Amino acid sequence: MAWEALDRRTPVIDEKAAPLLSEAVREKIRSFFPRYETKRAVLLPALHVVQDALGHVGWQAMKEVAELLEIPPAQVFDTISFYTHFWTHAKGRKVIVLCRSLSCQLMGADAVQQAVQRQLGIGEHETTDDGEYSFVTEECLAACDHGPCMLINEKMHRNVRAADVPRLLADANNATLSIPRSTLFDAPTATDAADELETTSDVREMKES
Ligand code: FES
Repeated sequence: MAWEALDRRTPVIDEKAAPLLSEAVREKIRSFFPRYETKRAVLLPALHVVQDALGHVGWQAMKEVAELLEIPPAQVFDTISFYTHFWTHAKGRKVIVLCRSLSCQLMGADAVQQAVQRQLGIGEHETTDDGEYSFVTEECLAACDHGPCMLINEKMHRNVRAADVPRLLADANNATLSIPRSTLFDAPTATDAADELETTSDVREMKES
């Protein structure tokens, strides 16, 4: 029997596939260009915008970001693989991030982790079958005096006990923020698109007059 060696680590990108990034997403990324000296410096904002728009940054999206910023795709991958915030595969609608650093560990983070994994039936870096939750652990979440700390999307839960976990996960509002947040790195909204259209027509009118 003949053997064939396959390198399964090599990403396969369909060169003929339609672009993944919408024009609105590209335009939002371009809107960061004037803030920085080089397009390369826009990489982190671009990755935030793409992840917010698509849920994760896969190979095709990395390639398109690289083209937009005129940098090698390897630089995009280097950055993504450095920051655990970015996902290269689909994640759940809510991501649970449990702190695994010292203060939270001393206050019982291990028991909280076991309770979360038992409740959801998933391990670290896994997603529930219904696509609702993904689970990871991270280094310090910067609220050490309230450990154990756990983020659900962007909402911080402090002093979490293992016994709190079932109630916490059953709460539909467990990721709802009670404070205003910046939308700077969010995916473009319909309002952004309308503003863009207005700006474009203003510019056209100025040019024509
Ligand atoms: S050690 Fe857990 S938030 Fe800092």
